[in-house]
Amino acid sequence: MSPSPVVVITGASSGLGRATAQAFAKRHAKLVLVARGASTLEDVAREATALGARDVVTVSGDTSDQATTDRAVDTAIARNGRVDVWINAAAVTAYGTFWEQPAADFERVLQVDINGYANGTRSALRAMMPQRSGLIVNVASILGEVPQPYSAAYSMSKAAVIALGRSLRSELSLANSPVHVVTVLPPTLDTPIFHHSANATGHELRALPPVYPASDVVDVILAAWKHPRKPERTVTGAGRVLVRQHNKRPVAVEAAVAKQTQVLQLGKPAPDTTGNLYTPSGDPHTVSGGWGGRRRKTGRLLLAAAVAAGAAYVLGAKRSGR
Ligand SMILES: NC(=O)c1ccc[n+]([C@@H]2O[C@H](COP(=O)([O-])OP(=O)(O)OC[C@H]3O[C@@H](n4cnc5c(N)ncnc54)[C@H](OP(=O)(O)O)[C@@H]3O)[C@@H](O)[C@H]2O)c1
Repeated sequence: MSPSPVVVITGASSGLGRATAQAFAKRHAKLVLVARGASTLEDVAREATALGARDVVTVSGDTSDQATTDRAVDTAIARNGRVDVWINAAAVTAYGTFWEQPAADFERVLQVDINGYANGTRSALRAMMPQRSGLIVNVASILGEVPQPYSAAYSMSKAAVIALGRSLRSELSLANSPVHVVTVLPPTLDTPIFHHSANATGHELRALPPVYPASDVVDVILAAWKHPRKPERTVTGAGRVLVRQHNKRPVAVEAAVAKQTQVLQLGKPAPDTTGNLYTPSGDPHTVSGGWGGRRRKTGRLLLAAAVAAGAAYVLGAKRSGR
């Protein structure tokens, strides 16, 4: 493992991507930071330099365009000769029922969250295949395994990202390539994503509890950097339990998660918005979205238990014909 790894991060200006940039900066990485908003990226670059990054450069552009991620890899190679870690975390989301959501917004989520990740992965491989080393981390979501209502395009995209990792690993193994691809599945995180989201639900969006700090996922990404052979990492014990329950009883768990989403994630009436689908959001690009984080650990545990209990209740009701 290089002492100053060359790390490319998409979605580096906010939330999890920004927290990941800070963590690698503290480890004296050489960073290439990618997002659309140039001035916010420059703030993150200054922050990373102050935290100890050896080199920082920003690439502003839309990851759904292959030219953006190609520019990022070309920049990394020109400055540092290689890419050690590539993290795809640039994503958008859009809430609304499948049948009410504008088709263009639905397609835009697929474009950024699937094509954007494929573009990033393709660019990363351009450096990693010839150098015969490297780690690609694709940030998916538990929603790729256990969907929730009002975000079909996002759940579809995250399932596609999980499938991309599986397909790619099989091809890399046939090609006898030592490049690693790790897919990370976080639960709800305390980031600004719900402020940035497009929204056609007619209600304000909140983070669906239980909410975890982005640092929990950063720790998992750092662990993947040290031990890249574990290909899929579902973050938190509660997340793993939920995925297991869903594998066993998909209908019951989907119904329980749907109810939790409706009750806990939707707030007071609010106008529709396209959020950050087409241009960067004017809302803050901080790490935290102000949803709680570690301070609410007890609440998180109680809510995780409530989701499990809800699933059990629905299951029991179905069995007894209620
Ligand atoms: N927060 C959660 O609850 C949660 C849970 C599970 C998984 N995740 C995943 O974690 C990752 C990070 O999300 P987050 O919560 O940190 O969201 P966030 O705070 O909204 O950050 C999204 C980042 O992506 C960039 N971005 C958006 N669209 C882009 C595009 N077309 N091209 C280039 N950059 C783009 C944004 O900057 P610009 O707008 O300036 O481009 C920003 O830097 C995503 O993959 C998300 O799906 C989040």
